[in-house]
Amino acid sequence: MAIASDAPTTARSATPPGLRLPVLVQTLLFGQYRSWLLPVLRRRYGDLFTMRIAPTGRLVVLLSRPEDIRTVFTGPATVFHAGEGNAILGPVMGEHSVLLVDEDKHRRVRRLLMPAFHGTALRGYQDLVARLAVAEVDRWPIGRTFRAHERMNALTLEIILQVVFGVTDQARLATLRPLVRGIVAIGPMIMLGWFYPRLQGIGPWKRYMTFQRELDGHETTATTLAWCLHELARRPAVLAAAQRAADAHDDEYLSAVAKEALRKRPVIYEVARRLTEPVDIGGYRIPAGSVVAPAIGLVQTDPNNHPEPEDFRPERFIDAQPAANTWIPFGGGVRRCLGAGFSLMEASVVLGEVLRRYDVRPDRSRPEHQRARNITLVPARGARISVAPRSA
Ligand code: HEM
Repeated sequence: MAIASDAPTTARSATPPGLRLPVLVQTLLFGQYRSWLLPVLRRRYGDLFTMRIAPTGRLVVLLSRPEDIRTVFTGPATVFHAGEGNAILGPVMGEHSVLLVDEDKHRRVRRLLMPAFHGTALRGYQDLVARLAVAEVDRWPIGRTFRAHERMNALTLEIILQVVFGVTDQARLATLRPLVRGIVAIGPMIMLGWFYPRLQGIGPWKRYMTFQRELDGHETTATTLAWCLHELARRPAVLAAAQRAADAHDDEYLSAVAKEALRKRPVIYEVARRLTEPVDIGGYRIPAGSVVAPAIGLVQTDPNNHPEPEDFRPERFIDAQPAANTWIPFGGGVRRCLGAGFSLMEASVVLGEVLRRYDVRPDRSRPEHQRARNITLVPARGARISVAPRSA
């Protein structure tokens, strides 16, 4: 097979360099510490490096150059299987989830889902999102530190239940809420069950599998909103600009705040495709059966792609658009996130309601780091902030 990236090619036999620890150790490190580990491995091994992941020790090739990522996102769906790449999510999502199927079946499921995420549909949800946001943020305590992530989770759960599932009946809402909370709180033990499917018939793993994970949309947006407030609270000038945008109902700027949070603090650190045939990437021939993984977190914090990546500058998304394949928080190609437009709409509506009311302050100046929570990365201390009524 001769799918090739634009990168200069050299040897086409060896696989890229990578970690040599036992598979179980690599798997646990990857599961729990990927946002710390992957930058270290990139510094050590270069732009392409490998890990081996349980249960079979499958080769995973992490990619961080835009041109290599482009090869993956533009390659044929018959060769780059995202459904198989996501197989680890099977117990969480249910095996028929759009995330877990490939080729024709994927195209069919995706086409069915598409209208629900279309622009006109999104505008229809906007008022309901705003109403639920007002009900939530009006209840926030004044002058007392709280975890923004917790409050945003509660809000986006309410939104997903009412907007996406159309649940408005109070009794049903009351039964669904705790179920969803149980699902979101996955620890390392449950994750082991993903890697070792035989565990899935037993105890906590079995219980966990009983609820399907289409609800996952809700937690990713909540995390993005929590990071927005975490970053704004530490930057008075950007906060003031965002408050002016909120007052002017300038959704473009508020959406740029969310995009910048998704760049600097991506909720999902990498996406995966399993190869059905060997593919040439970055001078290597990657064997069939391995997984190639565009590393969202690496490409988005590379100073070659985004100067001063540690800064928080929503203007990056207003003055110009980032170059292709350098901002990929929603993945790419035929598998790009269907909820991207919805999430950005939801984030700017919610930010507008918060920022029209409050000044936002951090509980301490040191920023929080990203902690792994199942397949997502969340603020380690819950994005602690306090709010006060707007002074100006
Ligand atoms: C900030 C919030 C969100 C982030 C960062 C996010 C991120 C992602 C990523 C990285 C993928 C995999 C893309 C790939 O493999 O190339 C994905 C897929 C998907 N997401 Fe999201 N997501 C978010 C919110 C949502 C929401 C709110 C929904 C629905 C209500 C949603 C529905 C989906 C679906 C259906 C897919 C599968 C697409 C396919 O396989 O064809 N997402 N998302």
